Amino acid sequence: MLSAQHRASIQATVPLLETGGEALTRHFYRIMLGEHPEVRPLFNQAHQASGDQQRALANGVLMYARHIDRLEALGPLVGQIVNKHVSLQILPEHYPIVGSCLLRAIREVLGAQIATDAVLEAWAAAYGQLAEILIGAEEQAYATSADAAGGWRGARWFRLANRVTESEEITSLHLVPEDGGALLAFQPGQYIGLRLHLDGEEMRRNYSLSALGDGREYRISVKREVGGKVSNYLHDQLQVGDRLELFPPAGDFVLRPSAKPLVLISAGVGITPALSMLEAAKGSGRAIHFIHCARHAGVHAFRDWVHAQTEAHPEVRHFYCYSEPRADDQAHATGLLTRERLEQWLPEERDLDAYFLGPKPFMAQVKKYLRELGVPEQQSHYEFFGPASALEA
Ligand SMILES: Cc1cc2nc3c(=O)[nH]c(=O)nc-3n(C[C@H](O)[C@H](O)[C@H](O)COP(=O)(O)OP(=O)(O)OC[C@H]3O[C@@H](n4cnc5c(N)ncnc54)[C@H](O)[C@@H]3O)c2cc1C
Ligand code: HEM
Repeated sequence: MLSAQHRASIQATVPLLETGGEALTRHFYRIMLGEHPEVRPLFNQAHQASGDQQRALANGVLMYARHIDRLEALGPLVGQIVNKHVSLQILPEHYPIVGSCLLRAIREVLGAQIATDAVLEAWAAAYGQLAEILIGAEEQAYATSADAAGGWRGARWFRLANRVTESEEITSLHLVPEDGGALLAFQPGQYIGLRLHLDGEEMRRNYSLSALGDGREYRISVKREVGGKVSNYLHDQLQVGDRLELFPPAGDFVLRPSAKPLVLISAGVGITPALSMLEAAKGSGRAIHFIHCARHAGVHAFRDWVHAQTEAHPEVRHFYCYSEPRADDQAHATGLLTRERLEQWLPEERDLDAYFLGPKPFMAQVKKYLRELGVPEQQSHYEFFGPASALEA
């Protein structure tokens, strides 16, 4: 339990975190990844290099410090962290490592004059409290996955049953459990964690489940990233019959129950969660507008499948926008998605549910346009294919 003195010390450090939070978390990662090689595989090097991971952690710590008196105000942030942690199998034994490195980083970055014993003691107590909340919520999620039909805890071996080329850049992988057992149901929009060993190095990545499946297999659809380690391995080296380890589905970017019109907006490989959302929502009676942006038809995945849905279900409509169309490409619009274009493609009723995903600048624009076009902010949902960050156009 935090004392009033602890709270006061934490709150006094908020302004410092606001200006120097990223320097602190950069230093923290340097210490932790340098001195604790056992946690290195948990962290994605590309997210470190872009600074997104540091910013996400700095933001988490800052939000916590700001709301130290009212933890309930953290709201969705806790669920978001828990889901990401669970998908990558963060375990209770990892927390003391983060805790000790964080305290050392606070001491070394703020200096002894500011990071006094009292301040460090307050942060140790506060970290312990937050860790307890996260560990508890994560254990609950692990237990729920383990106890559900077809569920499991930790890693489960799967085999690649089939691969399907969906575009010049995206390939779907159909994965079946090696034990031949049933598979945990998941909510449309959720993702799995994947663990691989490449050249002796362990790596973990998340991939959205791109089809609802039949309870016997999971489908993920992977874009080849230039210079990307795992995606290139999955595209070029993984053969049908090869094994992979999967952690159970997680994620809070899920299709919520609703009868309101549904708008799914995606760009590039951001289409993957929208596919299982469309599959789940079609035929439910609600109007569905499926808006997808791609560079050109060559990299436009699942076009035929989406067409088949619109033909079979009159309440589903689709709209495509190509930013760099090739000579014979057919789309509803070319160039970047503009507010005017989006306005034409939204249902007239603005009391709708929107879900969007794509590159960050695209998402920032979509978020802004939806707000300007009268879609209530709390009905505008999004996910990042990387550490969460602020979305400002
Ligand atoms: C919730 C979630 C869902 C996702 N769903 C999907 C999905 O459905 N489909 C999909 O394709 N992807 C998805 N992703 C993204 C996926 O997890 C991987 O990030 C993606 O496949 C790239 O991984 P990689 O190993 O190929 O690339 P990485 O090796 O991680 O590299 C990514 C990029 O960073 C560069 N890079 C790597 N290391 C460094 C470094 N040290 N310094 C500088 N640059 C570096 C690489 O050159 C490359 O351009 C999802 C991510 C999340 C978080
Ligand atoms: C109180 C302690 C912690 C806090 C406040 C915290 C906070 C966060 C936040 C805010 C994110 C970003 C979430 C998102 O992108 O949606 C995150 C992701 C992550 N956390 Fe934690 N975390 C804590 C403890 C830990 C521990 C103990 C580990 C393991 C050593 C860990 C490993 C990770 C990893 C691997 C990610 C994903 C990073 C990525 O996407 O590149 N975290 N955490």
